[in-house]
Amino acid sequence: MKLSFTLLLSMLILNARSQNELYKEQYRPQFHFSPAKNWCNDPNGLVYANGEYHLFYQFNPYDNVWGHMTWAHAVSKDLVHWQHLPVAIPEENGIMIFSGTCVLDKNNTSGLGKDGKAPMIAIYTGNGDKNQSQCLAYSNDNGRTWTKYSNNPILDLHEADFRDPKVFWHEATQKWVMCVMLSVQHKLQLYSSKNLLQWNLMSEFGPVGDTSSVWECPDLFPVPVENNATEKKWVLTMSMAPRMQYFVGEFDGTTFHNENPANLVYRPDYGGDYYAAIGYNQLPSNAQPVMIGWINNWNYANDIPTTPWKGAMSLPRNISVRKTGSNWLLVQQPLKELASLRNSVLQLEKYNVSKEKDAGFTGTQFEMQCTIETATKTQAGIRLAYGNNQYCEIGYDAAAQKLYIDRSKIANSNFNNNFKSASRFETSLAPKKNKLKLQVFFDNSIVEVFANDGEAVLTAQIFPGKEQQGIKLFSQSGSTTFFDVHAWEMRSAW
Ligand code: FRU
Repeated sequence: MKLSFTLLLSMLILNARSQNELYKEQYRPQFHFSPAKNWCNDPNGLVYANGEYHLFYQFNPYDNVWGHMTWAHAVSKDLVHWQHLPVAIPEENGIMIFSGTCVLDKNNTSGLGKDGKAPMIAIYTGNGDKNQSQCLAYSNDNGRTWTKYSNNPILDLHEADFRDPKVFWHEATQKWVMCVMLSVQHKLQLYSSKNLLQWNLMSEFGPVGDTSSVWECPDLFPVPVENNATEKKWVLTMSMAPRMQYFVGEFDGTTFHNENPANLVYRPDYGGDYYAAIGYNQLPSNAQPVMIGWINNWNYANDIPTTPWKGAMSLPRNISVRKTGSNWLLVQQPLKELASLRNSVLQLEKYNVSKEKDAGFTGTQFEMQCTIETATKTQAGIRLAYGNNQYCEIGYDAAAQKLYIDRSKIANSNFNNNFKSASRFETSLAPKKNKLKLQVFFDNSIVEVFANDGEAVLTAQIFPGKEQQGIKLFSQSGSTTFFDVHAWEMRSAW
């Protein structure tokens, strides 16, 4: 086909223009990862290899709704700035590439390496007609190009819901371990392998905890105990739409033993928009574990009013555990390197607030930290995206000892009734010596709240009007002192 010069020129100009406008759209997160265009869901194959953090993710190459699932790919040197790469593993012959894992096969146990170099191995769920099986693809160029293994699938139980493998190397027993879900049965299965190709069932875990919807996206990894240089516990995370849950205990190389009370449900995130999170494989040995989740919710994910993309990744979260009474709690802290995006600091120090007070700065792209001295009966916190009598409220109800996000006063919620009705999220949280510490990130349409140094986290999307730029502190049923108030405008990572 011959293109006329003017047609070619106008196509180039159009393309350049749309490139310039990308990442400047209303609601576009500026310090969270999102694809340039089209739909994304779960993070996949998080692995650190040869100096790069890889982020693969569920992606539709053709549209801005779920479908044609393919692994897209981005890399980063710092988990803050990302470079998009071409699609990694595409849908083919009616087999969609569902979620999974990546490892660097350092000793070439699979034999799929080339020229003495370690291959990268992806193990994902091949989603076919009423059958989900585990398949393998490999790369000998740092994940840039991939070949599907000729003897796929590598694990097939002829089940319609058998998915989301996570594979890691278990040093103590010198073998690969795979966690994978029998989703409808609410069972995690653990397999072992010497070569990533043949897998043997070792044990099962579940049903237990939240079984209100099918189990998906498991992960199992050792995590440091907070303020303890030597002790580690094993954390098992999983997703059951629209929420996640976790267990903390021990993994002996064969079986996972939960050490938290089995009648309680523990969530990594108590907001409405954190799902399918998994951890990084093969981080440097001194690094703290890092998890990333998908910021969206299957109850309305396809309808959120963002274009030309849908879906984003959470801030990378550092993970440890803390013992509180008889509970092991997950502690999550936003990656420290995010501070490199902080702009001007507003050091506001101390405030006494009764009813409502301007925070002294405005905007839709910031990090804010403060400590609230909790009185017995007050509800106090931050109102952001304030304007036209609308706002999103992040508050602590001292009488109920609950931390919450309430997005009911943001008018733009009619795009989906499930979104409209899921307007308030909360979790129980005790103050520490009558104090509650908040770290809030607002990124145009994403609110992520870390409380008491990461003991509770809530994530929610909001879609405010352009004029809603205000930020206020509030205190109801009495006045509240806010200490150590700091805020930073955040620069774009794009
Ligand atoms: C979780 C999930 C996974 C599946 C993928 C398909 O969000 O349903 O179980 O592999 O999304 O896109």
